[in-house]
Amino acid sequence: MSNAVMESKPATPDEIPKFTATLVVRRFDPEVDDEPRWQNFEVEMYGTDRVLDALHKIKWEQDGSLTFRRSCAHGVCGSDAMRINGRNRLACKTLIKDLDISKPITIEAIKGLP
Ligand code: FES
Repeated sequence: MSNAVMESKPATPDEIPKFTATLVVRRFDPEVDDEPRWQNFEVEMYGTDRVLDALHKIKWEQDGSLTFRRSCAHGVCGSDAMRINGRNRLACKTLIKDLDISKPITIEAIKGLP
């Protein structure tokens, strides 16, 4: 019987490939804007990141005024439903790497919501 112990080293963030994604977010602030406007953001992401992670990164690191709904962050509550590249999806269940990152990723409120 072998006493060999499998050693596995957890991947460090430097070992996980990063890429830059461009998100184009449709925004509206009724106190400032007459009409909704589109704003571009560039974010460094990992293959395991979701659209919700990208939005958090933008809010925490680039523009604290970015506002969006989310709650459970695990695909249960549905509160982060939004239109991503023209399709209704949950931001917490949509991996950035599954989208075509050669083009900007569009994010907007689902149709029917102001
Ligand atoms: S935040 Fe609850 S489903 Fe995405």
